[in-house]
Amino acid sequence: MTRPRFTNKIVLFLAASAAALLASYLFWSFTPEVRTLLEHRMGNPALSANTIINIIKLFFVGILAYLFVRALNSLFFGLAFWLKRIDAPTLIRNIFTIVVFTILFLIAFTFLFPDVNLGALFTTSAIFGVILGLALQDTLGNFFAGISLQADRPFQVGDVITVGAQRHTGVVEEISWRAIKVRTFQNHVVLIANSNAAREPIEVCPRDNLNARIVFFNTLYTDSPAKTIHVVREAVREADNVSDKVTPIVRIRDLGENGVDYEVKYWLVDYAKYNDTDALVRQRIWYAFRRAGLNFAYPTRTLLIERRPGAELRDGDGGAIAERLSAVDIFAPLSGDETTMLAQAAVRHIFAPGETVIRAGDPGSSMFVVHKGRVKVQVSDNGRPRTVATLNEGDFFGEMALFTGEPRTANVLALEETEVLEIGHDAMKRVFETNPDLVESLSHIMSDRRQGLASQSEADAESPDSKAGILSAIKRFFGI
Ligand code: CMP
Repeated sequence: MTRPRFTNKIVLFLAASAAALLASYLFWSFTPEVRTLLEHRMGNPALSANTIINIIKLFFVGILAYLFVRALNSLFFGLAFWLKRIDAPTLIRNIFTIVVFTILFLIAFTFLFPDVNLGALFTTSAIFGVILGLALQDTLGNFFAGISLQADRPFQVGDVITVGAQRHTGVVEEISWRAIKVRTFQNHVVLIANSNAAREPIEVCPRDNLNARIVFFNTLYTDSPAKTIHVVREAVREADNVSDKVTPIVRIRDLGENGVDYEVKYWLVDYAKYNDTDALVRQRIWYAFRRAGLNFAYPTRTLLIERRPGAELRDGDGGAIAERLSAVDIFAPLSGDETTMLAQAAVRHIFAPGETVIRAGDPGSSMFVVHKGRVKVQVSDNGRPRTVATLNEGDFFGEMALFTGEPRTANVLALEETEVLEIGHDAMKRVFETNPDLVESLSHIMSDRRQGLASQSEADAESPDSKAGILSAIKRFFGI
């Protein structure tokens, strides 16, 4: 592919040179005739025939000089490459061409136009200088930036660089007098003006340097780090384009959310192929993991599950509740199944110290068992609160309103953080139906409590029939 193009170039060059030489030779041979023709045609011209002829001669000389310089350029730099393997950058070659051509052109100019003082023409023409300066501002900026890039040689053709505001990454293909040509890994060509490149930070990964890459992966927490590191290092060091001069480094980067996070750092033979090599490294890690029984980590979470109060009864964790209820005096005669039924119907509530569980005068259709903590029973005596009882774990309250349908007889307040189990009307009715004796024992307790509620004078007047009254009231209320 390269060779035919190179041969074509030479053929083209030789043909152009032959044509230019022939044209020049013919012009020089027929100069007297051309002059006579011009003088005859022009009459009294502003430009003399000689001047026109010299301009045309300068044109031919210019073409010949250019061809000569190109030939010299190829010869000179070709020889340098052949002898010392020095591949001169395009910019240096261009500068060489421009300088030699300018010298040859100026020599030809002074030879053909001996009367024109070139030095004076340039130095006195301030306007020319300003115009030239302004017009060539960017070009000259790029040109000098290009020269400084060549002098510094921060990178060369073949190096991978990342440059520009857009952070273009690719392989340097050419550094010309105007721009750096970079071929990206998507095979696009990006031209970065030399003056821009000189201002921007450039990340260079030199071609003849051992450049490293880092690839990330992770494992489950149950996989041994020592084994993981060994397996991955051996898998990666054998992959294509991974340099055997330095052993890959595998290390733990983080104890991550999902698993142990690792990185493998490896060095490349040809850095320009790092995308493919990264992919190959990941592939090798996958296969090595498979063989060694190691596992990549998926997103994981450690959950702390807390049950809602009361939910445990419905969720079948009512053991503690059933145990509590069976320790309550009045429920002692109940069978295991009945206690379990009661436990399943119970709802657990929690109260802060000082909170009111029951307010005197409110309607009520449930009773409570103190599961944890303590409560006090208070009544209002001439406007002042009077504590009639303190109830502890395993005691119950709220039975009076539940069993008689009357309003609550007292306030009940938590003395400390207290958990209570609330049992409703329906659950109690089922219990009474199978345990009629329970009604009797309850009526005794309620009667005693009623006495405790009453003031001394009322207590003295209490009739002995009150227990029987309570008993019949309960039976009536529950329809038993
Ligand atoms: P109830 O009337 O439904 O609401 C207030 C509760 O306080 C009451 O039921 C009883 O359970 C309880 N109670 C009232 N008096 C006493 C007492 N003397 N001793 C213990 N508990 C009482």
